Amino acid sequence: MKENPNTLIIESGNLAYGIGVPPATYQLDTVAEVFRRLGYTAVGVGALDSKFGDQYFRIMREKGIPVVHADAEVPEGGYSYLIKVVNGIKVGIVSFGYVDPMRRDDIALEKRRYEAFVRVRRKSDLVILLDQANLFTPEWVKKNAYKYGMPDIVLAGGARVSMPEPEYIGTAMVLPTSSQGTYVNRVDIDFSGGERKIRFSRALMDSTVPEDPEIALLAKEYEEKLTISVTNSSSSTNQGGYISFQSCRGCHEAEYNQWKTTPHAFALKTLVDKKRTTQDCLPCHSEMYRRTKQITLTTDLLGGVECQTCHANVVPHPPGFKKKGDVAAIRATCVSCHTKDRSPEFQPSWYNRVKHKKN
Ligand code: HEC
Ligand code: HEC
Ligand code: HEC
Ligand code: HEC
Repeated sequence: MKENPNTLIIESGNLAYGIGVPPATYQLDTVAEVFRRLGYTAVGVGALDSKFGDQYFRIMREKGIPVVHADAEVPEGGYSYLIKVVNGIKVGIVSFGYVDPMRRDDIALEKRRYEAFVRVRRKSDLVILLDQANLFTPEWVKKNAYKYGMPDIVLAGGARVSMPEPEYIGTAMVLPTSSQGTYVNRVDIDFSGGERKIRFSRALMDSTVPEDPEIALLAKEYEEKLTISVTNSSSSTNQGGYISFQSCRGCHEAEYNQWKTTPHAFALKTLVDKKRTTQDCLPCHSEMYRRTKQITLTTDLLGGVECQTCHANVVPHPPGFKKKGDVAAIRATCVSCHTKDRSPEFQPSWYNRVKHKKN
């Protein structure tokens, strides 16, 4: 932007990343404020953003960031397309934003999208398509390009996360995407020689990229909002249905001793060490937080994924309780935390590492 005033900064969508449905809006507020300061030109709508409904449009509108989205009814702050004149060149921005799978066959929606696309194509020298819906495929081109025309550049959705390089579909350059801001794509377009030249590069946003102090401060403020207050105490709490592992120990010493040797017993410590006892991390790293929305730290920092996490079905035991075996229920719990994102190497055989017995 500072280097070249003829820069457009565009994001196809999924600005909001988090757990909880809908996620807290202050996360989106922070992202929107960062985008405002960086001078974003436009954003699209991804699956995660769509959870916010009209609020997404409102928050972006308050920060002066247009949302490109073609639908039958677009909330205030949304535009079915945008045309930016950059140094005399008309650049059209249009979006096949995310839609609920229930609406895949919605004819009215499809019609709005193609109307917007055709209009922007007709009026612009260069068309950028935001494709969170992952609709732009070779099949799409075969079926539609002759009547609607082609985009020039496509900002793809999640389906293109693992592409290292842009891919051409017909004459359109489809850019790779990344999750959680890992990369920033840059496309330089040179119109000077009569024929336009397009060059792609991407920058890895790792710790070697110097931090902008203003933006870093915003991120810190956000993390502080997420951080939940911690009480120090050595006694176990029993509220919100939470039952401490300490209360199982007396009758199940062997299982307790084995559990203590597993990373689950220190899942909360992991967050304390990382200074991230925050609402976005705790639900998988602390049983107490899951149940009570609070955490208590003991001096040994023991706790996290606990007896009750895996054995919720059988505790507390009714009088005269007899062992009956509950393997399926235990197995079913694992993947609620060992998601593809957080635990890519997880496999069912890990079960043998937590069942308190050798083999
Ligand atoms: C007062 C003693 C006592 C306490 C405290 C206790 N249990 Fe048990 N637990 C038992 C008995 C008795 C059995 C049945 C053993 C049998 O039938 O062989 C049992 C069985 C179990 C089983 C096996 C269930 C099955 O169907 O396979 C699990 C799991 C279990 N307890 C977990 C816990 C957890 C978790 C806690 C703490 C929240 C806990 N227990 C607290 C006495 C206790
Ligand atoms: C409440 C969330 C949660 C549940 C449910 C859960 N885990 Fe975990 N698991 C974690 C977390 C968090 C860690 C990382 C702990 C740490 O080191 O801070 C972990 C770590 C592990 C590890 C150690 C991995 C390593 O790299 O050493 C194994 C093995 C494991 N889990 C197996 C299981 C199995 C099998 C189940 C189901 C029976 C299960 N987990 C259920 C959250 C969970
Ligand atoms: C969806 C559940 C989930 C959420 C949310 C989550 N984690 Fe985890 N985390 C896990 C699981 C499961 C593992 C174990 C991964 C494995 O070994 O495959 C893990 C492992 C870790 C580890 C590695 C532990 C070690 O030392 O080996 C760290 C560090 C960690 N998480 C930090 C975080 C932070 C920080 C956050 C919040 C930004 C977070 N986690 C949010 C489930 C989660
Ligand atoms: C990550 C999940 C997990 C956690 C955490 C966990 N367990 Fe288990 N537990 C299992 C599995 C798996 C089995 C074996 C079930 C089977 O295959 O029959 C088991 C079995 C048991 C049994 C029955 C023993 C037997 O002979 O089958 C008891 C009792 C028990 N656990 C107690 C505890 C206690 C007490 C804690 C906390 C200190 C605890 N568990 C924490 C997964 C877990």
